[in-house]
Amino acid sequence: MDWKIGRLDPTAADLDEVLAVYELSGLGQRRPVEDRELFEAMVRNANLVVGAWLGGVLVGFARALSDFSYVTYLADIAVVREHQNAGIGRAMIEAVRREAPRAKIVLLAAPAARGYYPRLGFTQHDSAWVLNSQP
Ligand SMILES: CC(C)(COP(=O)(O)OP(=O)(O)OC[C@H]1O[C@@H](n2cnc3c(N)ncnc32)[C@H](O)[C@@H]1OP(=O)(O)O)[C@@H](O)C(=O)NCCC(=O)NCCS
Repeated sequence: MDWKIGRLDPTAADLDEVLAVYELSGLGQRRPVEDRELFEAMVRNANLVVGAWLGGVLVGFARALSDFSYVTYLADIAVVREHQNAGIGRAMIEAVRREAPRAKIVLLAAPAARGYYPRLGFTQHDSAWVLNSQP
């Protein structure tokens, strides 16, 4: 398929276009898309963001925070439903890796994507810990 993958400037990204990818992929059910201010901060403050475009339309989005040397935290990855299972997710993870080749990638999988990451070579960590944000 003729999609294009590339790094995207999160400070200049079109928020509605990004929101559409969250909503049309299903990831919007697990992210605070209804709180525009919070969602905008999530996007703008990420420092390693990759997009996938098909005919100029954003169809995939990967949002990460990286120190570009030791670790990259892949916070979100989403592909719109009609283009899932076409290799776009895999290509976006490869692009994230290319941008920070020395850094390992760490993430928390959504329940529906638990089986996805082992297929891409990720290994499960048995000691992941989360300190939830304060209300
Ligand atoms: C999970 C997601 C990002 C994967 O992207 P994608 O472009 O659909 O996946 P790819 O085409 O790169 O898939 C690579 C392989 O994994 C498989 N795969 C895709 N989604 C999978 C899933 N949810 N569980 C298990 N395997 C999956 C594909 O069939 C493919 O297998 P193959 O190499 O044998 O052909 C995408 O399906 C998505 O946006 N899902 C909804 C949002 C979500 O759950 N995001 C993850 C948050 S942690």
